[in-house]
Amino acid sequence: MTPRPGIEPAPLPSVVVLISGRGSNLRAIVESTPPCRIAAVISNRPDAGGLAFAHANGIATEVVDHTAYADAADPRGAFDAALMQAIDRHQPQLVVLAGFMRILTAGFVDHYTGRMINIHPSLLPAYPGLHTHRRALEDGVRLHGCTVHFVTSTLDNGPIVVQAAVAVDADDSEDTLSARVLEQEHRLYPQAVRWFAEGRLRIDGARVRVLPPPDADTVAAANDRALVAPALDR
Ligand code: GRF
Repeated sequence: MTPRPGIEPAPLPSVVVLISGRGSNLRAIVESTPPCRIAAVISNRPDAGGLAFAHANGIATEVVDHTAYADAADPRGAFDAALMQAIDRHQPQLVVLAGFMRILTAGFVDHYTGRMINIHPSLLPAYPGLHTHRRALEDGVRLHGCTVHFVTSTLDNGPIVVQAAVAVDADDSEDTLSARVLEQEHRLYPQAVRWFAEGRLRIDGARVRVLPPPDADTVAAANDRALVAPALDR
């Protein structure tokens, strides 16, 4: 049968995920089956636990070891250049930093403006940097949480896509608080990747607008025309 023109499905947007460690956010994203193709998982550490998960799930993995560039004239620049090459071989629409523990050069960040996101374990702009849970406990804050944001050249800064806040309990330890925040990270990051893949994020200065799904009106109108129990999602 001659294939009919015009019915090829659009290719899924491609995503590269950068990790340094256990990769629980990577796992949450993969298991959410987002409408994108995870083209590769790249780690700066050969022993990152998330690499085994990616490999077991048939995702290409690569290591760009930052220690290999320690003797370069500009170690940070040389590492970022190698990382950029490794990423760009996959021509991703989106770069996802999922526990990627490296400070990136401005040139690297600029190259991915509007198409690189990060998850940070605090309610930004509070507590950029490391040890966020410990610092929140030391300050006695009652609300703590996590943030998904577009990456800019200022550390843990950039237009915020989504945040979740959790209450801090009087007897919380760093471990109990980080576990509750991580649970929220695993809800937020897959959703943010899905929004991006669906083309629903618009950066407007410091703010991000999340556009409604294209069929939102149709679903609402269909719901108005009938009583359906239990309610349909779409
Ligand atoms: C997460 O808490 C993330 O917010 C932070 O690093 C941690 C990474 O955890 N940037 P995992 O590797 O995704 O399990």
